[in-house]
Amino acid sequence: MSSFSIATSAEVLDLLRDDLAAVEREFALQAISPVQVVTDIGEYLMAGGGKRIRPLLLLLAAKALGCTAETRIRLGAVVEMLHTATLVHDDIIDEASTRRGRPSSNTTWGNSKCVLAGDWLYMQSFRTALEERNFRMLDLLISLTQEMVEGELLQMEKLGHLINEEEYFDLIYRKTACLFKVSMQLGAVVAYPPSETLVPFEEMLGEYGRNLGLAFQIVDDVLDLTAQDVILGKPAASDLREGKATLAIIHALERGTGADREAIRTVLADRNFSRINHAQILEILRRHGSLAYAMDTASAYAEVARQSIAPLPESDFKRALMWVPGFVTSRDR
Ligand code: IPE
Ligand code: IPE
Ligand code: MG
Ligand code: MG
Repeated sequence: MSSFSIATSAEVLDLLRDDLAAVEREFALQAISPVQVVTDIGEYLMAGGGKRIRPLLLLLAAKALGCTAETRIRLGAVVEMLHTATLVHDDIIDEASTRRGRPSSNTTWGNSKCVLAGDWLYMQSFRTALEERNFRMLDLLISLTQEMVEGELLQMEKLGHLINEEEYFDLIYRKTACLFKVSMQLGAVVAYPPSETLVPFEEMLGEYGRNLGLAFQIVDDVLDLTAQDVILGKPAASDLREGKATLAIIHALERGTGADREAIRTVLADRNFSRINHAQILEILRRHGSLAYAMDTASAYAEVARQSIAPLPESDFKRALMWVPGFVTSRDR
């Protein structure tokens, strides 16, 4: 593979097959609690699948820097556990009923138990990271968690309201891109002990993660508007029903006619499609090229992600990192 670019997900998965399997085992091991319901919720979420993109990024970052230390596996489990905890809490907040193609954990176990199981998973991911006795890792994880929680709170305050692009980018950085960035940074930290050598790699890989994460969430928001539940594995068009204005909607609000703006405002305020239906919103978005605008923006961030790792030494892992942004912008779930 070495002299060609990586073209398929199968090639990337081949490259990381053993590591990703080891991350799964580590996650399963770490998610065992003496209180059965915690273990059950963790196992249920894990068995539902998921793309495992955060550990994948961490492993690629570490390996692109030549890391062979076992710590990479534990840290891979840390970022996936942390992600799982945020999903458990997110589905409670969003009152979601489906996740990863199955009933979401809140519908099965109820909100009260899921809040606590989410807290437990959060803390377990920190405990696992703490075992490394590396303050940089804890520093990254603690700042990340506060950014994510602040992001959820800011988003809540803006539900039902029109927001501008700047506010949108701040929200998606906090809720998604920050964890992508930290996953990449942790890959660098695993590869190098705190040192002057670490700093430029951590910055470069973090920049890749931030841009990729922004692209990822923009695509997620477009898919929410255009895809079907069965493919997404979660309810489609839920952002509008939750009162969330995402990039394509913001674009149409800026360019639409008075009637278009009124239709969008109505759905965001009603948080349902009783007066204006989903098809009417899609027609407005298509007429103004708003979905294409959002996808073009995602592609631009994906390209910046690629460019930011250009200085990395050539390897299959770097080639895999060059492939991921295209995967993110062309995914259908
Ligand atoms: C879902 O993340 C939450 C968002 C940031 C949109 P993923 O789309 O990575 O979810 P899984 O892990 O593959 O289910
Ligand atoms: C998810 O945000 C981001 C998290 C931090 C969990 P969303 O609410 O937009 O994600 P989905 O659509 O439920 O996966
Ligand atoms: Mg949600
Ligand atoms: Mg949410």
